[in-house]
Amino acid sequence: MSDGVHDAVTDRPDAERGVARRTVVLAGAGALVVTAAGCTEYGDEGGGDGTRSTPPARERSGSARPPAAGGRPLGTTAEVPEGGGKVFTAEKVVVTQPVRGDFKAFTAVCTHQGCLVDKVEDGTIDCPCHGSRFRIEDGAVAQGPARRPLAAERITVSGDEIRLT
Ligand code: FES
Repeated sequence: MSDGVHDAVTDRPDAERGVARRTVVLAGAGALVVTAAGCTEYGDEGGGDGTRSTPPARERSGSARPPAAGGRPLGTTAEVPEGGGKVFTAEKVVVTQPVRGDFKAFTAVCTHQGCLVDKVEDGTIDCPCHGSRFRIEDGAVAQGPARRPLAAERITVSGDEIRLT
């Protein structure tokens, strides 16, 4: 599904843009409702160790685009190296593949002070701000100063497509 809201705003004459902007605002409010529902769904999943107290970044970001059925496309499995991972900065999500064919996803927002992690290297997801490192297998802290793990994000992998759900 394309980004219909943004396309509508840029393709319409000025007189119609006001309507489109209202639509965007309403879509944003709708997204908040969807986001809240997603949070509940996520919470049911749990962080695995009960230490999670901060919602994932995408739940806090208030995206104006609600997820399509089956989730939003994130990337492809080819982008995520085996034994490593990839940071999807725009989505604030990091996807890892600790072992072949086993994909994991975590928030890319560091639990220390909220910087975005910026790389996956040598089995850890690394934050550039103060050096925290998180394990690619489960988001657990491998090196501080962060004390809490990266919260898991929900993804689905279908064929070679990875979607946020
Ligand atoms: Fe990541 Fe401080 S914000 S280590």
